[in-house]
Amino acid sequence: MAGTPPSHRVSTPSEVEGIEKVVTDFLRYARPVSLDLAEVDLREMVETLVRDMSEEAATAGAEIEIQGTFPRIVADEALIRQALRNLLVNALESFVPAGPGPAGGTQRAGTRRVILRGIPETGAPGGVRLLVEDNGAGIASEDLPHIFTPFFTTKERGTGLGLALAQKTAVVHDGQIEVRSQPGEGTVFPLYLPPRPGGPTPPGPL
Ligand SMILES: Nc1ncnc2c1ncn2[C@@H]1O[C@H](COP(=O)(O)OP(=O)(O)O)[C@@H](O)[C@H]1O
Ligand SMILES: [Mg+2]
Repeated sequence: MAGTPPSHRVSTPSEVEGIEKVVTDFLRYARPVSLDLAEVDLREMVETLVRDMSEEAATAGAEIEIQGTFPRIVADEALIRQALRNLLVNALESFVPAGPGPAGGTQRAGTRRVILRGIPETGAPGGVRLLVEDNGAGIASEDLPHIFTPFFTTKERGTGLGLALAQKTAVVHDGQIEVRSQPGEGTVFPLYLPPRPGGPTPPGPL
């Protein structure tokens, strides 16, 4: 429009950070993966991950608990760590109210629970079910079919790539990721990783 000065906006540092995050998340999502398989001590991985996230958890007014059993598996350690991290970040963010409302979210601090649970598959040594559970806001039923779609986000500063990446990781491991959610109650993401040939074999007779 003639007479209207062009509006140039200079991105603020936090906007630049946001853009960088979208780009790196997208490249991670779009890049073909070659699986870097090795034996992974899941217990050690989740303990380190949860320790590294303790500050983020404290900021969200929550604590991440580790429960269950974490076996050694054969997997791509970096991909699994990233997927679990994305699920845990979402769990911590589930305590923040989506719209305007009382600061601090719907859950009172002290009752905010995030659990990272390990359940080895019985009858399938080397297979494991990893569950990330929260008692946050839950997911609206109309959003549920879309949450794994790249760029779907309900967050003002979301990239919509966290779950797409976690699902890609599940798929390239021949596994599966699912979701169960109840608005107002919380959400569970089960990530199933099947046993891999060449993985740890059960002790047997010589
Ligand atoms: N634990 C959770 N609790 C509530 N909503 C969730 C949870 N995890 C994912 N979601 C929903 O799924 C959407 C997509 O998640 P994700 O792919 O990680 O992107 P982002 O976190 O950047 O929005 C989120 O915007 C949110 O609406
Ligand atoms: Mg996310």
